[in-house]
Amino acid sequence: KDSYAVTLLPGDGIGPEITAATKQVLQALATRCNFRIEWKEALIGGAAIDAKNDPFPQESLEQCLASDSVLLACIGGYKWDKNPRELRPETGLLKMRKEMGLFANLRPAKVLPQLIDASTLKREVVEGVDVMVVRELTGDVYFGTPKGIDMVNGQRVGYNNMIYSESEIDRIARVAGDVASKRGGKLCSVDKANVLDVSQLWRDVVTDVITKDFPEVELSHMYVDNAAMQLIRWPKQFDTIVCGNIFGDILSDEASMLVGSLGMLPSASIGESGPGVFEPCHGSAPDIAGQDKANPLAMILSAAMMLQYDLDRPEEAALLEKAVEAALDAGVRTPDLKQDNDGCKLVGCAEMGQVVAKLVAEIEV
Ligand code: NAD
Ligand code: IPM
Ligand code: MN
Repeated sequence: KDSYAVTLLPGDGIGPEITAATKQVLQALATRCNFRIEWKEALIGGAAIDAKNDPFPQESLEQCLASDSVLLACIGGYKWDKNPRELRPETGLLKMRKEMGLFANLRPAKVLPQLIDASTLKREVVEGVDVMVVRELTGDVYFGTPKGIDMVNGQRVGYNNMIYSESEIDRIARVAGDVASKRGGKLCSVDKANVLDVSQLWRDVVTDVITKDFPEVELSHMYVDNAAMQLIRWPKQFDTIVCGNIFGDILSDEASMLVGSLGMLPSASIGESGPGVFEPCHGSAPDIAGQDKANPLAMILSAAMMLQYDLDRPEEAALLEKAVEAALDAGVRTPDLKQDNDGCKLVGCAEMGQVVAKLVAEIEV
């Protein structure tokens, strides 16, 4: 196959800026490697609320499903924070994940040698870190019912329900077992089984699946509070981590600081079949939106994951990752990565995109 239909979801905040940079880089890669990308844009998040009064319109869903793959930037912003739940950008993102069946979210936190000093942690702690967080994405307290805010005895009471079925745990455990077996062979399942019944079921099912069907994988379990601490204390003890939706959300943002910036962390959201959605782990960064300060590399590296997982072009994925590293070797840094007196050149989002696009066209393989 040499032509792919890719849906672009620029979303909100820094979304359009990092999307433009990513598109330019992928276009340069396609030209060099003799394949075509048919781009189509669709609406999600605040942009979709403003245009269609719906954070993930049916036509966006249909277009995503009809594509070979989907690249998402990020959604959200102050403007919509007071909207009712069904008219929030985040609701559109959750709807997209649920309706596309994207139950597995792979979030790799790999420390690049060029960025060791960008981390707030000590060099010896972060050097060589390579952790993959496998986050369940369509269950947990995000989707459980009942939920709401009710009047009880004269005061408001808010509640959500942390809920997982055996089959939901089973399928994410299989993805994690597969990922771990192709990496370092170590899987740490993170839960709160000392307190939560849903976590006890999680632990039991993960143990069953891994010991029966992935005997080559070395399985351990850790409580989430300890895991949050261990990730900072000595992250090199981890290879692959599997956890539920909310714990994975939190631990992956934490892991981004090992790498140096949330602006470096890509992800792949995949299901049983059909197109995946490739999305940076970060949000719409409203504090820097529209200022050409955003780091586009998390989205560019998400595009590399798209090439690997959806377009079946592992060599092109590797080339793209190499171009990103070459850009860092050349000493260009967006503000989130810049250290005082590091001898590097401060660039904006657009220039970082241009540098990577040029390198992707020129570097030797
Ligand atoms: P955020 O990830 O948007 O930003 C957190 C901090 O990291 C900010 O200081 C921001 O400037 C910085 N940052 C994030 N991405 C960056 C990048 N690429 N380059 C440089 N700096 C970057 O999280 P938040 O501020 O808690 O949330 C803002 C909005 O984004 C909210 O509406 C939230 O719901 C939404 N959000 C969306 C997604 C998504 O689209 N997948 C993910 C997280 C948060
Ligand atoms: C993420 C985000 C989303 C999540 C929000 C915006 C719904 O934080 O993609 O990590 O919690 O999954
Ligand atoms: Mn998050």
